[in-house]
Amino acid sequence: MSSQPPAPPATQSADAPADWDDALSAFGPPRPVAEPASPPGALAAPLATARAALERLSTWVAIRSLGRRHRHRIVDHLLALDDRDRYLRFGYLASDEQIRRYALNIDFNRDEVLGIFNRRLQLVALAHLAYGEPLPADPSRTMAEFGVSVLPQSRGRGLGRRLFDTAALHARNRGIDTLFIHALTENRPMLHIATAAGAVVERGGSESAAWLRLPPESFGSQVEQALERHLGEIDFQFKRQAQVISEFVDSVAEVKSHFDATGRAAKE
Ligand SMILES: CC(C)(COP(=O)(O)OP(=O)(O)OC[C@H]1O[C@@H](n2cnc3c(N)ncnc32)[C@H](O)[C@@H]1OP(=O)(O)O)[C@@H](O)C(=O)NCCC(=O)NCCS
Repeated sequence: MSSQPPAPPATQSADAPADWDDALSAFGPPRPVAEPASPPGALAAPLATARAALERLSTWVAIRSLGRRHRHRIVDHLLALDDRDRYLRFGYLASDEQIRRYALNIDFNRDEVLGIFNRRLQLVALAHLAYGEPLPADPSRTMAEFGVSVLPQSRGRGLGRRLFDTAALHARNRGIDTLFIHALTENRPMLHIATAAGAVVERGGSESAAWLRLPPESFGSQVEQALERHLGEIDFQFKRQAQVISEFVDSVAEVKSHFDATGRAAKE
């Protein structure tokens, strides 16, 4: 959802850390919906960090930074959302025209757009990280707003959470100290993802605001982002080659069946 974010709260919660169509089945079936796990409590910080890294590896999926040339894919993705999902994503029932305008207005120089493609190169998950100006009340504080959508058939497999984690990493590496999420209070999956990452949620009637304080960038966080970028690019190029080969095989089969049919007709 997009809105003018209010000033973030000063405190931070310590909530517990938590976590595609057939073309994504290689990554495993959807996970059952789970209630938030209990807080890790006694887990020592290094152990928790190692566990989080292992969890990230076990649910690894290629995430790609999108640019202007992907605008039509962004539009196709958002237009595929039904009325309810559009309402949850934007906070109002966005019409096709409003979606096109939204995609056209994304400022790729300022913001970041992240995407996950399936094997057919369909954009199944999309996140928009909008970088804001420093807060007027405290110019030392910087903030970015996170908005996300995953196509229904690809939900429950951790894609929303992976995009959230990656957006947090990118924001952190740009010196942002707070990630802001504006969601409808009824949007339990989105609020679950945010609280599981440690965000503070302020419920205000039908709307909620979630704030996640980000640690400062580090050498490790920069390396992690660079690695993800390279792997994401390799994965996309690999899928593109696979699609080219598949289209070539299809056209050879089509030509062959055409000649078979012509040959049969000539014999007859
Ligand atoms: C919100 C959304 C992005 C989540 O995508 P997703 O890929 O299904 O999310 P994930 O699989 O990563 O995680 C969903 C989490 O919510 C949990 N969840 C799902 N339904 C839930 C519910 N009713 N109550 C509580 N938790 C729920 C899941 O168990 C999972 O938690 P886990 O990782 O601890 O198991 C997706 O539902 C969506 O696109 N909705 C429409 C657009 C929208 O709401 N955007 C957010 C507004 S900015």
